[in-house]
Amino acid sequence: MNTILLIHGPNLNMLGERDKEHYGPLTLSDIETLVASEAKKAGFECKAFQSNHEGALIDFLQKESPNAAGIIVNPGALTHYSYALHDALVDTGLPAIEVHLSDINAREEWRRISVTAPACTGVVSGKKEKGYVEALTLLISRLEPRT
Ligand code: DQA
Repeated sequence: MNTILLIHGPNLNMLGERDKEHYGPLTLSDIETLVASEAKKAGFECKAFQSNHEGALIDFLQKESPNAAGIIVNPGALTHYSYALHDALVDTGLPAIEVHLSDINAREEWRRISVTAPACTGVVSGKKEKGYVEALTLLISRLEPRT
């Protein structure tokens, strides 16, 4: 059970091209590589998945969570309205850390609400790609000690 699921929601496949001021210059592949290499140093492997479709993210969680230790998730805009993703995260029974590249509390009013955060054990927001490294450290600290 040394697998960490790294999940990205809608529009995050466009990182590197979309709104660099908020999201930084890195592509999704850059971020996945960064998290995978940091995870490897700590003895974990990463299984990454991105979709623009809510149901595909839920299908992935249902399929992969039984063989995983924890989750890092950036739900994109689903953060602000997807109760279905919230429930899917809870149903995994796994510790999850929610990450946002931008500071969702310093932008439009509607971004300040995260309906998925209550399903997570922590949230890291506004630290661009460094937020993922922080999320990984936080997640690993919450995992059951392995024998
Ligand atoms: C985001 C913030 C969301 O509000 C937005 O819809 C995104 C990206 C972030 O990483 O800052 O797509 O999750």
